Amino acid sequence: MISIENLSVKYKSDSDVYTALSGISLVIPDGGTLAVIGPSGCGKSTLLKVVAGLIPDFEGSVQISGEDVNPKKQTIGFMPQNYGLLPWRTVYDNIRLGMKIKRDPELLDRNVLKKLMRQLGIEGLGHRYPNELSGGQQQRVALARVFALQPDVLLMDEPFSALDAITREEMQDIFLRLWRKFNVSTIFVTHYVEEALYLGQKIAVLSANTGNISKIIDNPLFGGKDIRQDPEFFAMSLKLKNVIKKDWNQAWEN
Ligand SMILES: Nc1ncnc2c1ncn2[C@@H]1O[C@H](COP(=O)(O)OP(=O)(O)O)[C@@H](O)[C@H]1O
Ligand SMILES: [Mg+2]
Repeated sequence: MISIENLSVKYKSDSDVYTALSGISLVIPDGGTLAVIGPSGCGKSTLLKVVAGLIPDFEGSVQISGEDVNPKKQTIGFMPQNYGLLPWRTVYDNIRLGMKIKRDPELLDRNVLKKLMRQLGIEGLGHRYPNELSGGQQQRVALARVFALQPDVLLMDEPFSALDAITREEMQDIFLRLWRKFNVSTIFVTHYVEEALYLGQKIAVLSANTGNISKIIDNPLFGGKDIRQDPEFFAMSLKLKNVIKKDWNQAWEN
């Protein structure tokens, strides 16, 4: 379980203090997903970085399975906006890297790794370098890397935003399959309403410029079969878009 209570984050410089997040409270149950949606600059990446333990200076409480977040104790799978692959390492080494750091390499099950690469369709790419891959292939490698960690929590920062619509939907399906298999509590940041509806059991809408949550929505469609074809999916995306538009327009008018 990920439990965030009254989280506030301020970025301080010599002359200025900027409040990026203020009074955020969220709970993601074991094996649940939360999609976080919000406009550029509203604090989505800041939220993930706090849960990843990368911003230690915050107010409030952030716990994973009842303990304060601590990347030394918990295994945190973080897929950053730019995939986070090391250009000087091969695909295979990139995927193994996190495993090497977090776990005893002797315990590493090569079959798990092979199977994961096969499921992601990258089994033939192990010896290539990231710059020898297409954007979609790099995403697959980055996905293999976070899942290979077998993390306690998974944090995804707009991982599919740069992809064309068809490839994005394909990656969403691959992601869901793996997520079901590994059953890991996940926060998925996106700026696409359809992606939030497809991947989030709950959806948190962040406000445009106040750094807090404007709405948390239970997603009744999550997990259904072929929901993208369901008229209800279309209706819900429209509804959600209107909620967001209203909220974000108001914020700009204030
Ligand atoms: N290291 C930093 N120092 C100062 N301000 C920052 C820093 N990182 C982010 N910000 C600011 O905090 C706000 C939220 O940023 P971010 O979490 O990256 O938003 P999002 O991911 O939703 O686009 C933005 O206004 C951004 O300019
Ligand atoms: Mg961001």
